[in-house]
Amino acid sequence: MTDWVKTAWRNKPRVQMPDYTDEAALNAVEAQLAKYPPLVFAGEARTLKRDLAKASRGEAFLLQGGDCAESFAEFGGDQIRDTFKVMLQMAMVLTFGAKVPVIKVGRMAGQFAKPRSAATETSNGVELPSYRGDIINGFDFTPEARIPDPNRMLQAYTQAAASLNLLRAFSKGGFADIHRVHAWTLGFTEADEAEKYRDMANRIQDSLDFMKAAGITSENNHDLHTVDFYTSHEALLLEYEEALTRVDSTTGATIAGSGHMIWIGDRTRQPDGAHVEFCRGVQNPIGLKCGPTTTAEDLKVLMSKLNPENEAGRLTLIARFGAGKVADHLPRLIETVKAEGAKVVWSCDPMHGNTIKSDSGYKTRPFDMVLAEVQEFFAVHRDHGTIPGGVHFEMTGKDVTECTGGLRAVTDENLADRYHTACDPRLNASQALELAFLVAEELQKGQAPEEIAVSA
Ligand code: PEP
Ligand code: CO
Repeated sequence: MTDWVKTAWRNKPRVQMPDYTDEAALNAVEAQLAKYPPLVFAGEARTLKRDLAKASRGEAFLLQGGDCAESFAEFGGDQIRDTFKVMLQMAMVLTFGAKVPVIKVGRMAGQFAKPRSAATETSNGVELPSYRGDIINGFDFTPEARIPDPNRMLQAYTQAAASLNLLRAFSKGGFADIHRVHAWTLGFTEADEAEKYRDMANRIQDSLDFMKAAGITSENNHDLHTVDFYTSHEALLLEYEEALTRVDSTTGATIAGSGHMIWIGDRTRQPDGAHVEFCRGVQNPIGLKCGPTTTAEDLKVLMSKLNPENEAGRLTLIARFGAGKVADHLPRLIETVKAEGAKVVWSCDPMHGNTIKSDSGYKTRPFDMVLAEVQEFFAVHRDHGTIPGGVHFEMTGKDVTECTGGLRAVTDENLADRYHTACDPRLNASQALELAFLVAEELQKGQAPEEIAVSA
């Protein structure tokens, strides 16, 4: 892109970003990060874009998920492994049910910065700046913790690098071999959906036994032995994003080196703002959150800025309206995309429009509302003859109690048991798996009758 430089966002209005007081410290951190290796490479981002282009045509399906906010305190191998396992299980359910390849993208290895609805938080009469994610300030409710500290960017980079290292090992080192489909279950998913998963895994095992008899094994078929797993996060903290931007030596293309896919949040998508300015110039696949206030005109301008060449796979529109509201908002955006002839992936985030405060005081999301939004999203696409290309969830492999409901019903009173999120409430492994079965059913509804017959 010839009319773009990576620093141009600095001249645009910015929102949701910290004001660092120690400019020397900030400059030193930026200089340091600029020297570090990128976390991802241009070729990988291109492969993901090619995969997403398939999702835009209904030939693949995007599964994007992970923490609302990764945290320094919760960082550890077990937690990465467990989230990775649930995503593999969900992907298997979707592939098996819907007969399409599933593109696996973690909200991982970089998902550290959070937009907030209020600049301050009050507790027991004390007002402090809001927590904005571990890459910016601390979660503890003290004045010192809440001061934005640029050095946190270095810790975030290190954690992202270590996370990605493990994810690459899991993806390519044998852990994700399809013959281990039974081994990905987690101890605590004992409910009906786990039973359903075991049944499905048994059927997959039968197919694998058949293939082995026919001479196809993991040893001679690489695709059975490995998966592609990508990383993504909200590109909110632009000093960090700019410092990790690199020029690809083979193509000359500029790439955000912080993750394979980056997205623009619902609060930072101002067409003339800093975040859109940064994202328009990097070649990674870009996500754009679309909420109830996204107008048709905004979307039109954003699509022309973010995807001027109308390249399939470049832009994923992540709809997040809330249960009961999808039919009020999604149609105008679908009409805009149709009128522009734009190539996009339509993804559904059923989390961010369904956050409520429970009677016990916890921020939660009723599982029924999450399910309802997914169903509404698919129904609107069926009505419009357009393609639902993916889903976007906040979830974890841990047995948390943050969203209410699900088959192993988490109640309002249970929320206090294991409420560990650093930001928004996540689906636990059982809920995530239950949702995957539902999405698979919805995907089957969109298929021709003969295809359903084959998969029944
Ligand atoms: C998020 O994905 O965590 C988030 C803040 O989403 P949104 O921008 O859609 O509110
Ligand atoms: Co969130």
